[in-house]
Amino acid sequence: SRSINLAVIPGDGIGQEVVAEGLKVLSAVLPQDVKLETEEYDFGARRYHATGETLTDADLDALKRHDAILLGAIGDPSVPSGVLERGFLLKLRFAFDHHVNLRPSKLLPGVATPLAGQPEIDFVVVREGTEGPYTGNGGTIRKGTEHEVATEVSVNTAFGVERVVRDAFARAQARPRKKLTLVHKNNVLTFAGHLWTNVFNRVAEEFPEVTTDYIHVDAATIYLVTDPARFDVIVTDNLFGDIITDLAAAVSGGIGVAASGNINPSGAFPSMFEPVHGSAPDIAGQGKADPTATVLSVALLLRHLGHDAEAARIEDAVSADLAELPRSLKGTGGTPTGRPARSTSEIGDALAVRVAG
Ligand code: IPM
Ligand code: MN
Repeated sequence: SRSINLAVIPGDGIGQEVVAEGLKVLSAVLPQDVKLETEEYDFGARRYHATGETLTDADLDALKRHDAILLGAIGDPSVPSGVLERGFLLKLRFAFDHHVNLRPSKLLPGVATPLAGQPEIDFVVVREGTEGPYTGNGGTIRKGTEHEVATEVSVNTAFGVERVVRDAFARAQARPRKKLTLVHKNNVLTFAGHLWTNVFNRVAEEFPEVTTDYIHVDAATIYLVTDPARFDVIVTDNLFGDIITDLAAAVSGGIGVAASGNINPSGAFPSMFEPVHGSAPDIAGQGKADPTATVLSVALLLRHLGHDAEAARIEDAVSADLAELPRSLKGTGGTPTGRPARSTSEIGDALAVRVAG
């Protein structure tokens, strides 16, 4: 479409700084005839302290009217753990049925990795986003006693598993290597694991060109470190996906470059794009955060909306920038030997110049 109506949620900490750079690059890459409209929302710790609200029904109605959402980061040490996670992030993913949590991992030339050599890393994790142990289906009895019992039930539905598995097959089919790996733990989680395996095998019959593989999640953490090249597309449940995508980010350049999309492929609700990193209060306000992960999330956003050429221009610009001025693994502006670190906005400026030129 020739216009983009974007909801912008800078959020807390470095979220504010990195989102500004993401928008800078977005404006620079869009052709004249694509009209960009943005509306900023003040969700996060400040709003919570001021009003006690995290995300109301009225907020959801307002967000619903946008084509997509760009999020910086939500979270602050002044808010008890779980309040913003459940009350904002997870609430939004569930309300907008973001069942495809897309997390690509590509080790770009010049990017530091703790792995030996410079291994081929180019895979994407399709993490289920609305089920598993994230549904809040659990409880505690005899709380606070030495006989306390807590349950946290993992919910897996044939409908929910099939739609995410199908999406992952389609993504594998569209990539040159056409390989899809199911990651689960079906030797122990025999109920959910068998549902996933059966659905996976059934959908596989519709994608004869896609090579399939299955790996237990514990073994997958070994291969992600010893042989990441074996992965092309991975599909997995919500919690396994949460854990392995942090590992994936760590081996492919760190959280400073890890992008993600919380996608509703049907388009019934807007999808949300965000860097995998958090609000990093320890470096907030200092211009030290690397905006690259947010800029790459903007590329995912553009591809989701059908602006493939502009998405590719952003990815090319990031590759060129990283090759020329490598970042440190810390995920901040980076100090390549003999060069001063660039600030958040200097990196954003450089990327904006590249995508425009
Ligand atoms: C992530 C985060 C979230 C998750 C938390 C903050 C709710 O870790 O996006 O990976 O567990 O999904
Ligand atoms: Mn996580």
